[in-house]
Amino acid sequence: MPARITVVGSLNMDLVVRAPRMPVPGETLIGSDFRVIPGGKGANQAVAAARLGAQVTMIGRVGNDDFGRAQQRNLAQEGIDVTHVSVDPGEATGIALITLDATGQNSIILAPGANMRLTVAHVEATRQAIADADILICQLESPLEAVTKAIELAHANGARVILNPAPARPLDTALLRLVDYLIPNESEATLLTGIQVTDPSSAQKAAINLRERGVSTVILTLGERGALLANDEGITHQAGYAVRVVDTTAAGDAFVGGFAVALAEGRPLPDAVRFANAAGALAVTKLGAQPSLPTRQEVEQFLAQRS
Ligand code: RIB
Repeated sequence: MPARITVVGSLNMDLVVRAPRMPVPGETLIGSDFRVIPGGKGANQAVAAARLGAQVTMIGRVGNDDFGRAQQRNLAQEGIDVTHVSVDPGEATGIALITLDATGQNSIILAPGANMRLTVAHVEATRQAIADADILICQLESPLEAVTKAIELAHANGARVILNPAPARPLDTALLRLVDYLIPNESEATLLTGIQVTDPSSAQKAAINLRERGVSTVILTLGERGALLANDEGITHQAGYAVRVVDTTAAGDAFVGGFAVALAEGRPLPDAVRFANAAGALAVTKLGAQPSLPTRQEVEQFLAQRS
């Protein structure tokens, strides 16, 4: 049986442009290579998990427009169940304006549109899809009340909960207690804890702080330096993989999808983090969000070469 993963989250269309560097206020820069690419943290994590072999259901909201229809079509082509991707009559599909600099680092401005119209009632209407999942994955590009309801339903029905708190916002202890695996990056961990995460020691402090607030397992991603895994057994560091960087967009999403699949398949946590690190590394070697997400075969070949 493939892993059953349900994702509650965002679907965006990414409008991507390359620039020699990020502009400063008031400046116009000449860029290049404009592309329109399917993205959104929720949809990216759903595609990541599907390409790695999971049976995936997506719950989210798009506008009644071409971008929304394209998103639904793309996800369906990936074998993802889009029955619960509903169409909002009054808001446009989410848009992300992404600027890539010469080193492949991105800056993103999100106009969430229909993503923010996902309600508690919409999530309640999908309760079976959440209850049937081995794992629920959420992020924070959707309303917090809707995300909270999904996490409560998953918790009550025995599905394990992964929360990728991106973009970061303060979270209650009551919600954190329901999260089995919290996967923040350094800036998200900084915002959640007030501890400036800049090095291994501050990353450890932030992970301990989050565990003290009720999260069972914290996986703090550190970009090319890998990830810190903190749970009842202690804190370990899983090294990352050096690759040629084309575009860092969706590296975190590939990591989350990879981790969820490996976890659902019963791999020990350090192995699951290694698998996730490989998925994240491969994603930065290609342009764009969803086009960059690796297949199962690509991840396995990569791990075989790098072991
Ligand atoms: O994590 C990358 C994603 O963040 C992009 O695809 C963009 O849509 C924003 O949601």
